[in-house]
Amino acid sequence: MKGFFIVLEGPDRSGKSTQAKLLAQWLRSRRRKVLLTREPGGTRLSEKLREILLDPKEQIEPLTELFLYETSRAKHTLSIILPALASGKVVVSDRFTMSTTAYQGYGRRLPVATVETLNKIATCGIAPDLTVVLRVPGRIFEERERLAQKLFGADRMERESAGFRRRVNGAYKVLAARPGVVSIDAARGIEEIHAEIKSLVAARLGLKEGRARAASGKG
Ligand SMILES: Nc1ncnc2c1ncn2[C@@H]1O[C@H](COP(=O)(O)OP(=O)(O)O)[C@@H](O)[C@H]1O
Ligand SMILES: [Mg+2]
Repeated sequence: MKGFFIVLEGPDRSGKSTQAKLLAQWLRSRRRKVLLTREPGGTRLSEKLREILLDPKEQIEPLTELFLYETSRAKHTLSIILPALASGKVVVSDRFTMSTTAYQGYGRRLPVATVETLNKIATCGIAPDLTVVLRVPGRIFEERERLAQKLFGADRMERESAGFRRRVNGAYKVLAARPGVVSIDAARGIEEIHAEIKSLVAARLGLKEGRARAASGKG
């Protein structure tokens, strides 16, 4: 596989989409060919499944939900991610398999080993070269959540109980400690977080970081 596969993970509103966009922009400014994508989604079929998954009117059992996510992922992997990697692109995905482990495994309490077996099948066994987990302390997480729900309303996943959210948040703490995963503090400014992600990726891809600097003042 010639490309490089980066995944941004973390609970809702940890800043994944914001950081994925900034990272893709920066990589393009460094003349890398980039595929910016997201899960669930990334293809027409997968975006349709995403609509179903996030629709507050749908009643979806945990097992059904798991298969919908994995179906979306199989399509996404086969028709978008694998070809992009084969052609040498840097793939930046907003969520991937770790989300299913966190939400359907820890959150819904489906057996984590089963979830991870299905993750492997749905991704043809490919794993990200780098997973960055955006970690948000509970208090800040709740503040962002209150504000967003007031402004936009909640989708189906966001309507879950406090217990579910706590399990998901706790799962990210555990999963962030796995080998090959980098955990970063997302309770900081957008630019500061971007600078840290950039330096992680620059080191792995042998790129110069360029303009925006981390607030620490270090090169
Ligand atoms: N570091 C940050 N500090 C404060 N607000 C942020 C930060 N990063 C993102 N946001 C804001 O929080 C909201 C959720 O960010 P988003 O990137 O959509 O998160 P996610 O994709 O993880 O759900 C957006 O309104 C975004 O502008
Ligand atoms: Mg997002």
